[in-house]
Amino acid sequence: MPELAYLNGKILPIEEATVPIEDRGYQFGDAVYEFIASYSGRMFRVNEHLARLQRSMDALEFPKVSLKEIEAGLSELFNQAGFDRAGIYIQISRGVAPRNHPFPADSKAQVVMTIRGLNEIPDEILEKGATVITLKDFRWGRCDIKTVQLLPNAMAKQKALDAGAYDCIFVTDRGIVREGTSSNAFIISGGVAVTHPLTPNILPGVTRSIIIDICARKDIAVEERFYSIDELYAADEVFLTGTTTEVMPIVRVDSYQIADGRVGQYAKLLYRALRQEAESG
Ligand code: PDD
Repeated sequence: MPELAYLNGKILPIEEATVPIEDRGYQFGDAVYEFIASYSGRMFRVNEHLARLQRSMDALEFPKVSLKEIEAGLSELFNQAGFDRAGIYIQISRGVAPRNHPFPADSKAQVVMTIRGLNEIPDEILEKGATVITLKDFRWGRCDIKTVQLLPNAMAKQKALDAGAYDCIFVTDRGIVREGTSSNAFIISGGVAVTHPLTPNILPGVTRSIIIDICARKDIAVEERFYSIDELYAADEVFLTGTTTEVMPIVRVDSYQIADGRVGQYAKLLYRALRQEAESG
């Protein structure tokens, strides 16, 4: 199956796709992105991802981009590549202009997409759970905009890997739990699913919202509220949610084992429900 790129309307092999060095995404991190997964030959929750892409572009006052064109390009790329299970990145920058901080008056947004096969989460992680560390959230104040400025996230992920953990959960100075480096975080406490409310400090995850809907259908109470690192350590269950992460059970946070250290029933149930929804389109 070919790994392909879409570059401003043209589809070509990934390794042949290049962008000019004065692209503002490269110079300033002035670009936004989305990541969409496909299951059984169908892309999952495209509309939600495109709506968030539009929201990110609006928040940064990007030049107008036709979502219809992006949607058409996305379908063309997906169909040409022919993967059943794929990951597609859509990345849009403010455009190419001589390097200067102010927004250029007349730049044209650059649209890039890539598609590759997507590996399943290893069974061992789903069965035994993963471990995370916590780190101070040192990102900017608009984490609700999905920009490509991911250096703090990349540094935190690397720190986690270096510490022998799977990932890192960001926590504020005052001990409020935010989210993972590329996922949202949930705890189960006394049968209630608790997750950070939608504020500028976290990404409004598409999977987060699907999980909240599934909880409602299964009569699992949800509280969107701030919760502390002490609640995280003392939770009955902890899991991360995201397009690549799906529902990932966490059985150790820093030096604390979560409950009995085994994958909990809520994480298992929500993982199965998410997969079912994804695979049935
Ligand atoms: N990341 N929080 C952050 C910081 C993220 O980067 C992501 C997604 C999420 C979960 O959002 P969603 O459920 O819509 O995927 C939360 C994508 C997968 C990425 O960076 O590739």
